[in-house]
Amino acid sequence: MAVLQNLFFLAWALSAVVSGQYDGSRYAWYSSPASDFNSALPVGNGRLGGLIYCTPTEKISLNENSIWSGPFLNRLNPNAGGVISEVRSLLEAGNITGAGRVALPNMAGNPTSPQQYNPLGELNLNFGHSSQTTLQRWLDTYQGNSGCSYLYNGVNYTREIIANHPTGVLAVRLQASQAGQLNVQVSLSRSQYVTSNTASITGGVNSIVMRANSGNSNPISFTAEAQVVASGGSISASGSTLTVEGATTVDIFFDAESSYRYSSNSAWEAELARKLSSATSKGFPALRSAAIADNTALIGRVSLDLGRASGSAASLPTDQRLSNYKNSPNSDIQLVTLQYNMGRHLLVASSRDTGALSLPANLQGIWNEDFNPPWGSKYTININLEMNYWHAETTNLAEATKPFWDLLTIAQGRGELAASEMYRCDGFVLHHNIDCWGDPAPVDYGTPYTIWPMGGVWLSTHLMEHYRFTGNKTFLQETAWPILQGAAEFYFCYTFMWDGYYTAGPSLSPENSFIVPSNEFQSGSGEGIDISLTMDNSLLYQLFNDVIEACQILGLSSSDCSNAENYLAKIKPPQIGSYGQILEWRQEYGETEPGMRHLSPLFGLYPGSQMTPAVSPSLAAAAGVLLNHRMQSGSGDTGWSRAWVIACYARLFNGDSAWASVQTFLQTFTLTNMFNSNNGPPMQIDGNFGFTAGVTELFLQSHANIVHLLPALPSSVPTGSITGLVARGGFVVDIYWSGGALTNATITSNLGGTLTLKVANAATLSVNGETYTGPINTTAGGTYTVTLDYHMDRDSHDYE
Ligand SMILES: *[C@@H]1O[C@H](CO)[C@@H](O)[C@H](O)[C@H]1NC(C)=O
Ligand SMILES: *[C@@H]1O[C@H](CO)[C@@H](O)[C@H](O)[C@H]1NC(C)=O
Ligand SMILES: *[C@@H]1O[C@H](CO)[C@@H](O)[C@H](O)[C@H]1NC(C)=O
Ligand SMILES: *[C@@H]1O[C@H](CO)[C@@H](O)[C@H](O)[C@H]1NC(C)=O
Ligand SMILES: *[C@@H]1O[C@H](CO)[C@@H](O)[C@H](O)[C@H]1NC(C)=O
Repeated sequence: MAVLQNLFFLAWALSAVVSGQYDGSRYAWYSSPASDFNSALPVGNGRLGGLIYCTPTEKISLNENSIWSGPFLNRLNPNAGGVISEVRSLLEAGNITGAGRVALPNMAGNPTSPQQYNPLGELNLNFGHSSQTTLQRWLDTYQGNSGCSYLYNGVNYTREIIANHPTGVLAVRLQASQAGQLNVQVSLSRSQYVTSNTASITGGVNSIVMRANSGNSNPISFTAEAQVVASGGSISASGSTLTVEGATTVDIFFDAESSYRYSSNSAWEAELARKLSSATSKGFPALRSAAIADNTALIGRVSLDLGRASGSAASLPTDQRLSNYKNSPNSDIQLVTLQYNMGRHLLVASSRDTGALSLPANLQGIWNEDFNPPWGSKYTININLEMNYWHAETTNLAEATKPFWDLLTIAQGRGELAASEMYRCDGFVLHHNIDCWGDPAPVDYGTPYTIWPMGGVWLSTHLMEHYRFTGNKTFLQETAWPILQGAAEFYFCYTFMWDGYYTAGPSLSPENSFIVPSNEFQSGSGEGIDISLTMDNSLLYQLFNDVIEACQILGLSSSDCSNAENYLAKIKPPQIGSYGQILEWRQEYGETEPGMRHLSPLFGLYPGSQMTPAVSPSLAAAAGVLLNHRMQSGSGDTGWSRAWVIACYARLFNGDSAWASVQTFLQTFTLTNMFNSNNGPPMQIDGNFGFTAGVTELFLQSHANIVHLLPALPSSVPTGSITGLVARGGFVVDIYWSGGALTNATITSNLGGTLTLKVANAATLSVNGETYTGPINTTAGGTYTVTLDYHMDRDSHDYE
């Protein structure tokens, strides 16, 4: 009886401990092992990625971000240069179908796809366990590590994986709660193109080395190695497996290096040996502490508090919370905070400066198990790669952009070839996808997506934004300017005069199509090809503005600077259609898909600023009309589209509509492990990043040279705080609010520039206790505390 009571007590106590253990804003955690890719938990050091399952027989998926399906392919279509003017003439004459028929076969790349991102393989851990009880597994979005524990035969077994950026390795610790109870077979595997895979014990080093390649001529080749350190027990090697018996703790150190960054096998294997030797000599505990210190130094800069969930809603395992959230979103506001934090964890895990040729987060970040992944898991640059970095500057992770510049620099070189061969112009051009080689040629085969010569412009706009947030003039001079210059020079040559404006085309509005009007050849059918698209015009408006701004800051007066001014004056402004909406194409065609997920014509609302209320109230109103029309027709039907919707409503100061989309995002697009999806798998990482970017815009905006606090505070979030955000001008901003209004904000000036302030739509505010009357000249390092001037409000009220 007493024993039974104790058991009951123990079971109750354990479950209480379990649910209280994890802060629901910080941890994703579960009480069952992962069943698939979309429930496994992701860690990464910006170059190596790992996904841990915690199944009885573990299979940790491994990725290294330079392992792609093959070498650079020159896919440029040699016919392109010969047909551009014919296609333009057909479009100008209103023969849309004819233009598409001439353009596609002569301009599409051959083959139509660039290389794809490929898996590295798996780290297999066979413990011989047939069951797991009392399992818990977790991902810590603050520390960046993941692990699990469970009971088997009365022993508590734990696994933990850390991703260490300073040393450049992954490391795993396996432990048993009772001495000598840990048996495990360790191996590396990959389903394709393995050339050797051998376990060995040499000079006290227990190692498994796997070599593989991409299986084509001139392949990407790599070497992966796991080194195993066991405490207690014995270890033996056989074939490709290391077997540990009777140990208590086993540590595994892992690295892989490829031919992408090194010119010879011996060079990348020397780097592999260097990293693993450094890792093993530090040992797991030191590597773990260093990984956590490094990670929290970045992640810890921003802290979001939207208040607590009702009752114990946020104490449940994450899969149960996601399921409950579908019916009662208002009872678990901490799930929003967790997803916000996940967006920053995933960027830090998948995008770090790892030296020369860093690679940015791709369509799946850095995690991919598939040799033929959805959309190649490459860099789609008609929204997706850009969205991956929308939150980098605003949420104080500016360093995470370095791989973006590395790839853009490579793509510029490739894009110069595309500019000259396809369009007979200087400068550089990219289309709607690139791969790890910066492949600039058009991708796929269809008029709504293939021939879009604007990918390089959209990527280039991130350069100037980076300067606006960081004020780094060295970056502006050395990294940004050559790319901005190359981007602009292409359009000085490529654009043509139409309707009195410098015009781009043949082009398209990603990835929409319209109904061909009567007399424009195949009337009634869907087409995508056109000239003078709103998005293209908005991108060129941004590009030339960016060039002019860079010229002013750097004190340049080259012909590129004056050309940019001349061209900017002749870029067609956004046009407004029959019901007050921003027009998407050159004219108001019939729509094939009124709820189109891409919000391409709203680039100027977000991430651009041309159509925002502070810049142009009339364009903002028209942007709102188009956004509402899209939403009423079913847009926002993928996670990344929904994330864009959040940001757009925030830019229109419509916090409640933005919040409705925040909730829909979590109800509809969030997978078990918090990866974003398109309403069910496959996952796409862009939506995770876009979600965090969009939520940030609710609390802070700075695109119009105004630090605007609480511009779109949703009524469902009356009280909260967010600290450590960054505004353009290099201002670090902490904001506290309650009762739907600002309590205070502290703004730290990094650069000593001019601070122009706005708080929600408050009429009067104070800075450091004095009434704010206009822009403040800050001093670098100075802090400025902003409060609402209740006194003035009350006084003016009294006199009414
Ligand atoms: C449209 O262009 C195509 C391709 O050049 C041509 O075959 C067709 O005759 C043209 N149609 C009209 C109505 O001009
Ligand atoms: C097993 O150990 C881990 C790590 O110490 C602990 O968090 C977990 O609660 C333990 N599990 C059980 C069932 O005691
Ligand atoms: C400024 O940019 C340069 C070049 O990109 C970089 O090396 C440097 O670290 C940056 N400075 C800071 C303070 O981030
Ligand atoms: C701002 O308000 C928060 C919440 O009330 C408070 O904790 C903090 O000390 C205040 N900061 C300043 C500078 O007044
Ligand atoms: C701020 O600095 C500018 C330029 O140095 C100067 O013209 C202006 O008067 C200053 N404003 C204030 C309020 O000190």
